[in-house]
Amino acid sequence: MLPCLVVLSVLGLGAWGDVSWDQAQAKHMLERLQYLFTNVSLLTGNNVSTMVSRKKWGAEAVGCSTRLTTPVDFLVTHHVPGLECHNRTVCSQRLQTLQTQHVHNNSWCDVAYNFLVGDDGSVYEGVGWDVQGVHTQGYNNVSLGLAFFGTKEGHSPSPAALSAMEGLISYAVQQGHLSPLYIQPLLVKGENCLAPLRTASPKKACPAIVPRAAWEARETQCPTMTLPAKYVIVIHTAERTCTTSDECRPRVQTMQSRFLDRFGACDIGYNFLVGQDGAIYEGVGWNVQGSHTPGYNDIALGLAFMGTFSEKPPNAAALEAAQALIQCAVDKGYLTPNYLLVGHSDVSNTLSPGKALYNVISTWPHFRQ
Ligand SMILES: *[C@@H]1O[C@H](CO)[C@@H](O)[C@H](O)[C@H]1NC(C)=O
Ligand SMILES: *[C@@H]1O[C@H](CO)[C@@H](O)[C@H](O)[C@H]1NC(C)=O
Ligand SMILES: *[C@@H]1O[C@H](CO)[C@@H](O)[C@H](O)[C@H]1NC(C)=O
Ligand SMILES: *[C@@H]1O[C@H](CO)[C@@H](O)[C@H](O)[C@H]1NC(C)=O
Ligand SMILES: *[C@@H]1O[C@H](CO)[C@@H](O)[C@H](O)[C@H]1NC(C)=O
Repeated sequence: MLPCLVVLSVLGLGAWGDVSWDQAQAKHMLERLQYLFTNVSLLTGNNVSTMVSRKKWGAEAVGCSTRLTTPVDFLVTHHVPGLECHNRTVCSQRLQTLQTQHVHNNSWCDVAYNFLVGDDGSVYEGVGWDVQGVHTQGYNNVSLGLAFFGTKEGHSPSPAALSAMEGLISYAVQQGHLSPLYIQPLLVKGENCLAPLRTASPKKACPAIVPRAAWEARETQCPTMTLPAKYVIVIHTAERTCTTSDECRPRVQTMQSRFLDRFGACDIGYNFLVGQDGAIYEGVGWNVQGSHTPGYNDIALGLAFMGTFSEKPPNAAALEAAQALIQCAVDKGYLTPNYLLVGHSDVSNTLSPGKALYNVISTWPHFRQ
C-alpha cells in the first residue's frame, strides 16, 4: 500500500481528476465554496492569521524565483510522512529539516511546497502564493502544492490540520490564487511517491496484445488520451467469461457493437480487455479514451477482465497478463510511474470489478486504499 493516498475524501472538496465534470458538480462545488467563504473562520476555528511565516519557523534564506501565473487551475495535495509534530516548536524544526533536505540533498531552490499544514492546525509558509514550488513534476507551473506534515504513514492528518487545509484552500480561491473551478489531477501524494525512480530495473517484455484487427473491430474516431495516464481502473465486464481465443475474440467484437449501437459510445469502452485465456485484447488501446468512468476516461487506462468476478477471481493467467500489461504501460511511458491503481467501484457507483477481483487487486502495487 502506498502511504500517500489517505486524505482527500475527508476534505470533501473532492478530487475531480478531470476537466469534464458536469454542471451539477460545478454548481455544487461553487455552493460549497460560497459556504466556506462566509464561514471560513467558523469552520476552521483558525484562519490565515495563524499562518506561520518563513521568518517565524526559521527558514533558511533561500528561495525559488520562478513566478506562478495566478489564479492557477490545479491543486496538488501532498502528505509528507515521517514529519510528525503537534506544536509549533516541533513543526518548525521539522520544516527546517525538510527545507535543508530539499535544498541541500535534492538541490531544489527551496522547500518544495507552497504551504504546509501541521497537525497543530497551523499553516506554514513554504514558497508562498506567487512562486512555483518543486512538488509535482509537470504541474509546478500551473498548480499550488499544499502538504500535510505526515503523521504515521497511512494515517489521516488531525481534524485541526484538515480544517486548516480546507480553510487554506478556500482562502486561496477567495484571494484569486486558485481558480474556483480548480482541478486536483492527483490524489494525495506522499513524499516517497516523489522519490527518484530506481534506475534501470530490467524491463520485462510487454505481453502480446491481440490487436483490434484480430477481433475485426469497426473503425472509429474517438478523443485521445492525455498521456501518460495517471490511473489504472480495474473493471469486470459482468458477463460470461471466455477461456480460449476463439471464444474471447467474438466476445470483444460483440462488446464493441453493444457500446456503439446500444450505449451510443464512441467505441468499446475499455482500453484493454483481459481474457481467461491469458491474453490481452486491445480495446481502444493506449492512445484513445475509453468510456468506462465519467471524469476519468482521458487520464485513466480502463482495464476490463472479461467475466463476472464477484465470487471467484480471474485465473492466474489473466491476473498475470494484466499485471504484465500495467508494468509494460509504465515502461513504455503510457502510464506515469506514480500511477494509482483503483477498482471501478472506487471511482464509480458500480459493483465492478466484483468483490473477489477487488480483493486481489487490493494487494497489487500502487493500489489506492
Ligand atoms: C454559514 O454557517 C451557518 C451555520 O453555521 C449557516 O446557517 C449559513 O448558511 C452559512 N453561510 C452560508 C453562506 O452558507
Ligand atoms: C482570525 O483569528 C484571529 C484569532 O484567532 C482573530 O482575531 C481574527 O479576527 C480572525 N480573522 C478572521 C478574518 O476571521
Ligand atoms: C511540543 O511537543 C514536544 C513533543 O511532542 C514536547 O516535548 C514539547 O514540550 C512541546 N512544546 C510545547 C511548547 O508545547
Ligand atoms: C542529506 O545530506 C546530508 C549531508 O550531505 C547527509 O548526512 C544526509 O544523510 C542526507 N539525507 C538524506 C535523507 O539523504
Ligand atoms: C508549464 O510548463 C510546461 C512545460 O515546461 C509548458 O509547456 C507550459 O506552457 C507551462 N505553462 C505555463 C502556464 O507556464
